[in-house]
Amino acid sequence: MKKVMVINGPNLNMLGVRERDVYGTDTLEEINERLRKLAGKLKLEIEFFQSNAEGEIIDKIHSCYKAYDGIIINPGAYTHYSHAISDAIKSVDIPAVEVHLSNIHRREEFRKNSVIAPSCIGQISGFGAYSYNLALYAIANYLNA
Ligand code: DQA
Repeated sequence: MKKVMVINGPNLNMLGVRERDVYGTDTLEEINERLRKLAGKLKLEIEFFQSNAEGEIIDKIHSCYKAYDGIIINPGAYTHYSHAISDAIKSVDIPAVEVHLSNIHRREEFRKNSVIAPSCIGQISGFGAYSYNLALYAIANYLNA
């Protein structure tokens, strides 16, 4: 079975509490539980990781080398400036999908640029918690192609 790692960056542990008008009311646990069910239907193994620290996210990406077939990542605000996370994704050579709950392209100017996107096979942004489902469908499709 193909294995997918879902990585969430800073402040995403606060989903359900944090700016609910922007990010919705689901907690990260609720989102992950739905993803776990969907992964079962798609015949994928899935694991979850969340950290507020850039280095821990980079270490987790490195640990996926030769261990995971796909990565789904919501880098939070690191999206907009962490060249180190972007390099980490490139260095493990694992197909990655970038995810955002909000549509980063219709928000503040600084959110419109992702330094992570060039390291990913694609980006999904703006569908709330359902963005994660779409990312899992996308990676499943990519891995089965
Ligand atoms: C986010 C968008 C980022 O700009 C923001 O810093 C986040 C969440 C999203 O999922 O919409 O933390 O990645």
